[in-house]
Amino acid sequence: MTQQHSLQGRVVAVTGASKGIGLALVRALAAQGAAVLGGARDVSGLQETGVTFQALDVSDPASVAAFASACREAGVDALVNNAGVGTFKPVQDITPEDYRRVMDTNVLGTILTTGALVAHFQARYGAGQGSQVVNVTSDVSGRTFAGGALYTASKFAQRAVTHALAYEGQAYGLRVTEIRPGMVDTYFGDTQQGEAHKAAWLRPEDVADAVVYALTAPAHVRIDEVLLHPTVQEVAYP
Ligand SMILES: NC(=O)c1ccc[n+]([C@@H]2O[C@H](COP(=O)([O-])OP(=O)(O)OC[C@H]3O[C@@H](n4cnc5c(N)ncnc54)[C@H](OP(=O)(O)O)[C@@H]3O)[C@@H](O)[C@H]2O)c1
Repeated sequence: MTQQHSLQGRVVAVTGASKGIGLALVRALAAQGAAVLGGARDVSGLQETGVTFQALDVSDPASVAAFASACREAGVDALVNNAGVGTFKPVQDITPEDYRRVMDTNVLGTILTTGALVAHFQARYGAGQGSQVVNVTSDVSGRTFAGGALYTASKFAQRAVTHALAYEGQAYGLRVTEIRPGMVDTYFGDTQQGEAHKAAWLRPEDVADAVVYALTAPAHVRIDEVLLHPTVQEVAYP
């Protein structure tokens, strides 16, 4: 692609920035010259050059409002909705608490955090500037598996939110991207399968690279979706 949209001098907000994919991403963005705002519930002890960490619970409207306010003040031009949790149980074992935890983080969190910045992105468009939203969903945002009811329901829903936002955002020059990783070696993965499998899984940095790819696409290019898997993972579409 020509005229790559450099990250130098750009301001990017990342949710779920304290570990796993989010931490790899804030490091990659800062290394390429972006000013980064990183949010997670526990940001104690975190220190990265070029990254300002702020306590954020994406499922809590007041916490999201404070984070969005910091984003606006910093002049954010891109938001990465990466915060997410998973619970893997057969349908009969899923509790209302499981449901609320997963849906509130993965779906409501994406809605609240994005919604709090839409007026800002619209104002940027009015000033002749485009903005971007990148949602880290999953390869299972379009298919499911035994034990995956709750998590995949949340990821299907997050994908739907992503698509609806893309339709709505066209009116104000918003480019929206869905990143759909397969198995990634993170803390999150600990809850799914044993450690032995992980050596061949995606690294958090691989997913960070995919996000950077979307964010650095030239202004006339919209990367709608990136689906990536570790080579060892069984081929599965969509
Ligand atoms: N690992 C995989 O195999 C895989 C595959 C496909 C997609 N994904 C997706 O990738 C994203 C990142 O996951 P990961 O694998 O990097 O998991 P991870 O290592 O467990 O990191 C999750 C991050 O989200 C934050 N978080 C959780 N709940 C939050 C909340 N309510 N508000 C704000 N931040 C919150 C966590 O920090 P705090 O706990 O301190 O808040 C942490 O920074 C998720 O959306 C996940 O669904 C993961």
